[in-house]
This record gives sequence, structure tokens and C-alpha cells, in this order.
Amino acid sequence: DDPAALKPRAPVVTIMGHVDHGKTSLLDALRGANVQAGEAGGITQHIGAYQVKTPDGSLVTFLDTPGHEAFTEMRARGANVTDIVILVVAADDGLKPQSIEAINHAKAAGVPIVVAINKVDKEGANPQRVRERLLEHEVIVEEMGGDVQNVEVSALKKTGLDKLLDAIALQAEIMELKANPDRAAEGTVVEAKLDKGRGPVATILIRRGTLKVGDIFVCGAESGRVRALVDDHGKQIKQAGPSMPVEVLGLGGVPMAGDTLTVVENEARAREVAAYRQEQ
Ligand code: GTP
Ligand code: NA
Ligand code: MG
Repeated sequence: DDPAALKPRAPVVTIMGHVDHGKTSLLDALRGANVQAGEAGGITQHIGAYQVKTPDGSLVTFLDTPGHEAFTEMRARGANVTDIVILVVAADDGLKPQSIEAINHAKAAGVPIVVAINKVDKEGANPQRVRERLLEHEVIVEEMGGDVQNVEVSALKKTGLDKLLDAIALQAEIMELKANPDRAAEGTVVEAKLDKGRGPVATILIRRGTLKVGDIFVCGAESGRVRALVDDHGKQIKQAGPSMPVEVLGLGGVPMAGDTLTVVENEARAREVAAYRQEQ
């Protein structure tokens, strides 16, 4: 892409950490704290990826695929969609084997870490001990002269959430994440399924370009034409730009997580590429 065509895009964030350290709770709290006022019934969640507004008004894309399997699997398949890893560490439990694994995965992928020290409301919480243990694994937080941001949070009491979003926004700013929205779309399958009523449905994270209703595409070994696009509030939309997660309807079959969706000029071309990929 022509550098002049690049525009800022939202960071894509994956939550990682040891079992029961509060990854899902934190995701829920972040989402709940930012649900648009007036959205009846609270949180609407239709797809496994969503965007949250930071206090300064910028957007962050969270992939609701916590756990290392999804991260490593996608990476193994060449789909390194994550810009930032949020490492969740319970302040009472401290660094555990899966926390260390997460650190290693993030480092291997060259993805910066922001540490969320969770459960600070609990008796026995010791955030300082967490920072010290992180140092042993060469994750050096700002208080110790490093450049890794850490934020003390409680997903339960909903404290520190805005600070965490600010930390993500700051990390993203340093990274100057950009993409060209004015081109044929390319995206990555986050998850896909066969829906009883709607047929094959894929949650696509748009990497660049803008995906529009009516676009003809190849997705992994499947081809199709966009029949409908559904956003993370379950609302039908006409188009989706870079870093947006969106449900795509109109696939010929169910693709695999990590597959690439590419918009092509016509159906003949789509069939040709899909047939070629099916032979692979
Ligand atoms: P896995 O997906 O199973 O690895 O767990 P997780 O990391 O998603 O943790 P989850 O959100 O399921 O939380 C585990 C437990 O910790 C639940 O009982 C939560 O209610 C509790 N929990 C999460 N966050 C907090 C917190 O900030 N404070 C307290 N006191 N409890 C919390
Ligand atoms: Na859990
Ligand atoms: Mg969980």
C-alpha cells in the first residue's frame, strides 16, 4: 500500500494469563463499563470479538479468544492478528506457569505486553510481588525502569478499567498502527460455524481495506458473496473497515480460524482461487 493511503486503525488486543486469573471477568467488565448508555438489557454480544471505546474516544478491538491455544494456533497458521497482549495476573496468586507461557508466547511473536494485575480487591493481594516476579522473566515494568505498563485492576469491583484502556491506547499510539481503508478488503477468520438458520457464518477481523455487502470473496478454500454484515452489537451494517470485527454471511462453506478472506473482482476469479486452494 502507498504510505499516503494509510490511516490510523484500532489496536487488536488478546487477553492471556493463568487459569482463573480473571481474563473473562476482565473482558466482561471492560465491555460492560463501556456499553452505550440506553442499550436496553445491558450487554449485547453476538460475536466473539468486539470493540470498546477508551476514555479518550479511540477504539480498541478485543478478541474474545482468551487462552493460549487460539493465539498460538492462529500464529502457527500465519495469522498473527494481535498487536498487544494483555497479561492478566491475579494479585493474590502471582505469576503461574501459564502466565510465564503467555510471556514467552508474546515475546516469540514480538508483541508488546501490558500487564493487568487483577483481583487487587482480595485479601492477600500483593501487586508489588507480581512486579518483582515479572522482572525475573524480563518483563520490566515502568516503576522498575522498564517500559512495560502495568495497571492494578479489579474486574469484580470494576476499578482501574479506564486506566487499563488508557494504557492500551498509549501503547497503541507508540506503535502507530495504520491500514489503508480504501482498497479491496482482506481479513482473518477469528471463528466460524454452521448456523442453523443463517448457514455458514464467519467472524472476520478486517486487516485492511473495507468489506462491503455484495463483495465477492475467497475465504480459505471457500468462496462467496457478502450477503450481510453484522457488527458486535448484532446490528446489520453495510461495510466494515480495518480492525473491525464483523460477522460475514454468504459463505459457500465453513472456513477455519486463521484463514484469510480476500475480496476478488468477480465470481470466476473467486472460483478459480477457491479451487486452487482446495487442491492444496
Ligand atoms: P479461565 O478462562 O478458566 O482460564 O479463567 P479466567 O482467567 O477467564 O477467569 P474468570 O474470569 O473465569 O475468573 C475466575 C474467578 O475469579 C471467578 O470466580 C471470578 O469471579 C473471580 N474473579 C475475577 N476477577 C476478580 C477480581 O477482580 N476480584 C475477585 N475477588 N475475584 C475475581
Ligand atoms: Na475461569
Ligand atoms: Mg475465561
